[in-house]
Amino acid sequence: MLGDLVIIGAGETAEIAYWYFTRHTLYEIVAFSSEREFIKDDMLFGLPVAPFEELKKTHPPSEHDAFVAISFARLNRLRTRLYNETKRKGYVLTSYISPHAFVWENVEIGDNCFVFEDNVIQYYAKIGNNVTLWSGNHIGHRTVIGDNCFISSHVVISGFCEVGESCFLGVNSCVIDGVKVAKDCYIGAGAVVVKDTEEGKVYIGNPARILKDSLP
Ligand SMILES: CC(C)(COP(=O)(O)OP(=O)(O)OC[C@H]1O[C@@H](n2cnc3c(N)ncnc32)[C@H](O)[C@@H]1OP(=O)(O)O)[C@@H](O)C(=O)NCCC(=O)NCCS
Repeated sequence: MLGDLVIIGAGETAEIAYWYFTRHTLYEIVAFSSEREFIKDDMLFGLPVAPFEELKKTHPPSEHDAFVAISFARLNRLRTRLYNETKRKGYVLTSYISPHAFVWENVEIGDNCFVFEDNVIQYYAKIGNNVTLWSGNHIGHRTVIGDNCFISSHVVISGFCEVGESCFLGVNSCVIDGVKVAKDCYIGAGAVVVKDTEEGKVYIGNPARILKDSLP
């Protein structure tokens, strides 16, 4: 066994993480954890949902690793806050990389990443901390993905691209080679990004254009 793991979150993403870690890793999931005001049920899959505020007492970081499994809501702000707080509490944040992903041997992947099946991560790509790559994306050679990004599904990011931190890339969007997506961008489903983007904007269409300044 790799040891005991606490999943931070108790919603849909946390449930999915539970199954992926259970099926594909040697961790034993021992608890979920949510901030007290968001706890709806004390148990999930027969495991306790521990209040996040007391996690160090109930499941100390000396004996447990953690994985923050929260959705991309509010452009990744909630999952980023919980990632930072969990790290500050002293937990080792582990990453999940599907055995059905293809990750070239010189790729760097940070902590608390969630890499689903059918992702292809090519030669010398770099993936930051707390990045989700949902199923079936292509991350081209030497491309760098910043911390806290959420790449949804069937996204193509070509070679030599840079994606700034906390971006969301919608299903079937693509970024042509060498383009820089600025931080906090929301790239809509099916958008084709052909030139560098402006920070914090929402893009749609082919070629991608600004739809609005930001999402609420
Ligand atoms: C870009 C996006 C965030 C815009 O959402 P929104 O702010 O609620 O915008 P609206 O739905 O009000 O649409 C505004 C206009 O843009 C158009 N539009 C919205 N998203 C579009 C897209 N991805 N491509 C092309 N046009 C789009 C709408 O048709 C609408 O056009 P209209 O004014 O002519 O009727 C959203 O449509 C989107 O693409 N989200 C990504 C979804 C996704 O990938 N989910 C994966 C989950 S894992």
